[in-house]
Amino acid sequence: SVVRAGSYTDELIKTAKSIASPGRGILAIDESNATCGKRLDSIGLDNTETNRQAYRQLLLTTPGLGEYISGAILFEETLYQSTTDGKKFVDCLSDQNIVPGIKVDKGLVPLPGSNNESWCQGLDGLASRSAEYYKQGARFAKWRTVVSIPCGPSALAVKEAAWGLARYAAISQDNGLVPIVEPEILLDGDHPIERTLEVAERVWSEVFYYLAENNVVFEGILLKPSMVTPGAEHKEKASPDTVANYTLTMLRRRVPPAVPGIMFLSGGQSEAEATLNLNAMNQTPNPWHVSFSYARALQNTVLKTWQGRPENIDAAQQSLLIRAKANSLAQLGKYSA
Ligand code: 13P
Repeated sequence: SVVRAGSYTDELIKTAKSIASPGRGILAIDESNATCGKRLDSIGLDNTETNRQAYRQLLLTTPGLGEYISGAILFEETLYQSTTDGKKFVDCLSDQNIVPGIKVDKGLVPLPGSNNESWCQGLDGLASRSAEYYKQGARFAKWRTVVSIPCGPSALAVKEAAWGLARYAAISQDNGLVPIVEPEILLDGDHPIERTLEVAERVWSEVFYYLAENNVVFEGILLKPSMVTPGAEHKEKASPDTVANYTLTMLRRRVPPAVPGIMFLSGGQSEAEATLNLNAMNQTPNPWHVSFSYARALQNTVLKTWQGRPENIDAAQQSLLIRAKANSLAQLGKYSA
């Protein structure tokens, strides 16, 4: 049989398990500079390195964060930054037993030959970048590609998404980083929940086919799926029980129990929805750790509370802890509104 992931196999499995630990999940703050700029603009701040650093410092130095957060996904700029007192952000995280992670994809571009769909760049040079990120303290990676339901999805777009994720996952493992496998199925569209289920099943079956073909160690990966919901413009909203039912049906059909953790993205759901849906998924035992890797559903209130003002930092950090704790309880299936 093919030997995979070199000498890192044991470490990858340990890292993945520590991220998928009870009552904890991932804080995603890996917005590219352009996306971070949009968030800062929403509270009237300029998109400068100083403002991005100040915002990430607020988040990463929140006292007590490690009780609820097991991993933090950073953008490359943040991985190399320090607090204004000179402490490396990666050390702030390690002190709280939070594993530092890094977004390694280079973003989406149009996919020629498809139905106005996109593909994700970033494989060129990925091995050497990953080795550098490992040296800097990162222990897991994220690669986000997207699949659009209203645009098809075409067979070409699904295959490209799945193949790209599998190549990235193999390269990450080869360099000691646990890959988060994220084919985000966008919420856009007016389709019913059954259609999302159908597309999600197709996407995940191809993703696992190519992961296996690339000899990826399933015990050393984490998934970041979208929840199975109706399209955002569908006439009816689904209850948390319905979302949980469809999402778990999809995962049970497609995801082997060897995978340690399912870390959902929030994808534009409100903070409350994202927590309630996660809680509903943890009402019965699952073969995997079912948890969160939220960006917007952890940060929305923090940003509004902060407003870029030093005197609001404590209150903003408290609002982060409130969301983190709610999602921690939801991971344990013990959240009540
Ligand atoms: P949202 O939770 O805001 O969807 O972001 C998660 C993420 O990192 C998307 O890749």
